[in-house]
Amino acid sequence: MRRLDKTIAFVPTMGYLHEGHLSLIKKGREIGDSLVVSIFVNPVQFAPGEDFENYPRDLQRDLDLARKNGADVVFTPDDKELYSNDYQTYVNLKELPNHLCGISRPIFFSGVVTVVTKLFNIVKPHFAIFGQKDYQQLVIIRQMVCDLNFDIEIIGAETLREHDGLAMSSRNVYLTSGQRNSALCLYKSLQKAQALLSIGINDSEKIIDSASEIIKSGTNTEIDYIAICDPKTLIDIKKIDRQVLMALAVKVVKTRLIDNTILNP
Ligand code: PAF
Repeated sequence: MRRLDKTIAFVPTMGYLHEGHLSLIKKGREIGDSLVVSIFVNPVQFAPGEDFENYPRDLQRDLDLARKNGADVVFTPDDKELYSNDYQTYVNLKELPNHLCGISRPIFFSGVVTVVTKLFNIVKPHFAIFGQKDYQQLVIIRQMVCDLNFDIEIIGAETLREHDGLAMSSRNVYLTSGQRNSALCLYKSLQKAQALLSIGINDSEKIIDSASEIIKSGTNTEIDYIAICDPKTLIDIKKIDRQVLMALAVKVVKTRLIDNTILNP
């Protein structure tokens, strides 16, 4: 495609595709002459004890969905194809992974950035599309692309939500119906935050306290973090006097869910 002077759009995924992924795939279809989707559950972004083995997989269904939604190529490497026995190289960022999810998942972003770097070198896309639900991942990949001089435009796509506001995620399949109900506390707390801000409460601590109350009122919920921070540096902000990112991670029994929103004063 490059030799023919055609553009390549790329959507990297770990499979078990849902409407959120399909919206990225459709976007890719719109912006590139050709569209590559990858499906690879990347072992190096999971720590021991996380859900690598149990991560939901259904390759046949994913291939059908990718094809139906316009993928020209689906790249499905196996572990050995990307990480040979003598594999040694990892890509790390200095600052951005020290916030939000990087605190409780210290190897996660090194694993993500390593695999995305490899996939970029293999696929050689002009555009790559990532969901804003994984906001920190998106910011980190933008930084890596800039730092390592990749000639790739990174496109962030809006979070898709279920009818009741739950952000779409492959991990939602782990939730029982009771747990799914509890999981709504993430979205509710983000909505409450915007409501508080719009009546003039701009103290991050107060907004975080209110979010924390909402989350604790759900059954079987455990807060990993709730943060209000600068959308570029991810450094905490105490007074909301400009656009900020509010991001949170909550465990509902064993399922760790994340969500975020941009708050506007
Ligand atoms: O967001 C994901 O699904 C993964 O982190 C990614 C970007 C495909 C890398 O494994």
